[in-house]
Amino acid sequence: MKNFYITTAIDYANGAPHLGHAYEKVLTDVVARYRRLLGDSVHFLTGIDEHGQKVTQTAEALGKTSEELTNELAPLFVAMCEKLNISNDDFIRTTEERHKAVVRTILQDLFDRGEIYKGSYKGFYSVRQEQFVLEKERNEDGSWPEIYGEVVEIEEENYFFKLGSYQEWLIQFLKENAFVVPAFRQKQVLEFLKEPVNDLCISRPKSRLSWGIELPFDSDYVTYVWFDALINYISAIGYGTDDFEKNWPVDFHVIGKDILVPSHSVYWPAMLKAIGVEPPKALLVHGWWHIGGAKMSKSTGTKIDPVEFAGTYGADALRYFLTREMSVGQDSDFTQELFLGRYNADLANNLGNLVSRLLNMAGRSFPDGLAAATITEDPEAELKAGWEKCREEVLVAYEQFQFHSALEKTFAFITSLNRYAEIRAPWKLAKSEEEKDQQLLATTLANLAEGLRLANAFLKPVMPDISDKISGLLGQDPVELWEGQLEWSDRLNGQVLGGKTILFPRPEA
Ligand code: MSP
Repeated sequence: MKNFYITTAIDYANGAPHLGHAYEKVLTDVVARYRRLLGDSVHFLTGIDEHGQKVTQTAEALGKTSEELTNELAPLFVAMCEKLNISNDDFIRTTEERHKAVVRTILQDLFDRGEIYKGSYKGFYSVRQEQFVLEKERNEDGSWPEIYGEVVEIEEENYFFKLGSYQEWLIQFLKENAFVVPAFRQKQVLEFLKEPVNDLCISRPKSRLSWGIELPFDSDYVTYVWFDALINYISAIGYGTDDFEKNWPVDFHVIGKDILVPSHSVYWPAMLKAIGVEPPKALLVHGWWHIGGAKMSKSTGTKIDPVEFAGTYGADALRYFLTREMSVGQDSDFTQELFLGRYNADLANNLGNLVSRLLNMAGRSFPDGLAAATITEDPEAELKAGWEKCREEVLVAYEQFQFHSALEKTFAFITSLNRYAEIRAPWKLAKSEEEKDQQLLATTLANLAEGLRLANAFLKPVMPDISDKISGLLGQDPVELWEGQLEWSDRLNGQVLGGKTILFPRPEA
């Protein structure tokens, strides 16, 4: 059976990983872990994009070679994945031979079949975006849009991929397939395709840029970085070998909104079509994080170091915030205050409180194991009905990539568990000798424990470590599959719970 194959964009290795990179990996990891919990066998790829002008420029500014720079940065990206508990199965660097060999094979094949040809180009070139730009893109005052940075006029011979010849096929493909998630972004692609699409310049003369994969048919040129980078998605899974079919077609390429058009939605499907490979099944496109309302930027210092943050508050707390706060597809704002607000309210007070209350009371009243829940009155019936609704809604939310909503609903259920505890007040019941009160006490703690066990299953994709800890405190194995785990049961009957634990320490002021 084919694996569920999911990828992130590969990050430019021209600086340390930042919050945007961290978010994309967390989001992809949540999907990967969710699919594993459904029983899928998952292959999860991430990596870094090492060639091209951006990397060269940074290296030059630092007085290093591009190779030295990327070799220094690569371990930081790998370390970030480890620190954030990212469950990737592979990490690709575009300087690896396994990647370069596939890029060369594809280039040669396309050249031999006339899909790549040599031509002359005279026009404008954006140094920052490493792409050619058109006269019509100028602002009204004649300047170039800010995103292009410095724009220079050049004339040179280059190699072109016959991108334009795939336009009609692509439009048809997009009309017939829900390719981009969320759907409103697919319209952006179709909008772009309303204008004629030019052939794509896929080479850079070495005289201008030497850091890249040399064209197999002309040693004076290297490959354009996007043509090189996109191929990582197939070079990493053994394009050209029998292994390839185990993973391709990819289920989701997870990318940010800035790299949807034209790279992932136009170049990539056309490149695949040209080599006779099926298009990706879908692109999952997320919005951008801003920091305190401002664009993240090295120069203004509006940056958050995700690794440092995870070190201070725990990887799971950061994963929770990123997943809870951003509705996939929309932009979001990150501030220390917003983060601490959620940390305190949702994690420390709501979830943390429930766990410590339960462990305290169970340790005191049922040190030899929880007793059975024997009473069902209104509060118990409401609690169970609340779980039924929560389960249904959360499963739908996960399926629709509404992870913020899955968490919101799971935490609403956790709130209802705390409310139930307030109503039954087991700390008072524990002081009573009456038979009914003793039964109610046993019922309350059994229900709180069972409710926590259920909610905890839904925390697993987002907070894997915390979820495993909670499972351990309830005397259960880590949640590996949702099947058979989401029904209200009495499986904790007789269970001895773990000792007092603080899952979310109060941050130091
Ligand atoms: N190297 C290319 C991608 C090649 S994929 C074949 C690239 N690299 S990048 O480092 O600039 O961006 C990598 C990913 O991080 C992109 O999906 C981008 O959208 C995402 N983010 C970069 N900044 C971001 C935010 N501020 N917020 C959220 N994600 C953002 O593009």
